[in-house]
Amino acid sequence: MSDEAKWTTPEVDTEVATPARMYDYYLGGKDNFAADREAAEKVLKNMPKVRAFARANRAFLGRAVRGIAAEGVSQFLDVGIGLPGPGGTVASALAARPDARIVGVDNDPIVLAHARARPVDAGIGAATIVKGDLRDPAAILADPQVRGVLDFEQPIGVLLIAVLHFVSDDEDPYGIVSTLMDAVPAGSFLALTHVTGDFDQERLAVSAKAYEKSTAKLTVRSAKETAAFFDGLDLLDPGVVLLPRWRPDGPVPRDADDIWMYGALGRKK
Ligand SMILES: C[S@@+](CC[C@H](N)C(=O)[O-])C[C@H]1O[C@@H](n2cnc3c(N)ncnc32)[C@H](O)[C@@H]1O
Repeated sequence: MSDEAKWTTPEVDTEVATPARMYDYYLGGKDNFAADREAAEKVLKNMPKVRAFARANRAFLGRAVRGIAAEGVSQFLDVGIGLPGPGGTVASALAARPDARIVGVDNDPIVLAHARARPVDAGIGAATIVKGDLRDPAAILADPQVRGVLDFEQPIGVLLIAVLHFVSDDEDPYGIVSTLMDAVPAGSFLALTHVTGDFDQERLAVSAKAYEKSTAKLTVRSAKETAAFFDGLDLLDPGVVLLPRWRPDGPVPRDADDIWMYGALGRKK
């Protein structure tokens, strides 16, 4: 067994690629296996900018978490939290708010195995990773571990970062988001990012094929379809835009229009 695999558990199937491990590979991490690298390389061959998508996505995540924390919110529910790494939710939230209470949910056993092997010291805050599936939001909301960390009477930042494109149209993605947002009080936030085919439908269709043999299929959505996740919420400035154009910390990078992922933030009224 290689060093990288020592801490995995029997539920981790290293033969089938998973989005969490492919994403880790795009970001230059070590928590991936041959099947992940093979699938990820297919995507990279077709869309060499994918590593930049992943970095822009992580950067958006940090800006969104800081933006939510700046509004006085210290609780975060991140579904599809992925493997930890620089700029991940737990580190970003604790940096913005040392008293942050964070629940990460993921359906990939590797994320849970990782969390068990390397628990986070959240100091005066609290951080926990639980197993759950975005396609069953009621189970997430009823989970005693989720309820144990988050106070649903107080505003919560709900994060769906690069995960809704793994929910197909027939799995009711809009109903899922409504269920989550109905469970949190006014003053809560929804931040999400989503891959789009708006700029090159054909190329995205080829990349989607590389995910077909992974544990989750890829469904791209347009700007309008992405904005529809915010129906009933206040969609905050600058609306649904490509990731590098969302409240940039500095000058917008020159390749901003090649990063085919939208990001947006909304507030519950
Ligand atoms: C591309 S990664 C993004 C990770 C993290 N949100 C970020 O942006 O850095 C997508 C994550 O969503 C998780 N995921 C995919 N489908 C899911 C589902 N139905 N329920 C929960 N998690 C899911 C994957 O396991 C993976 O960790």
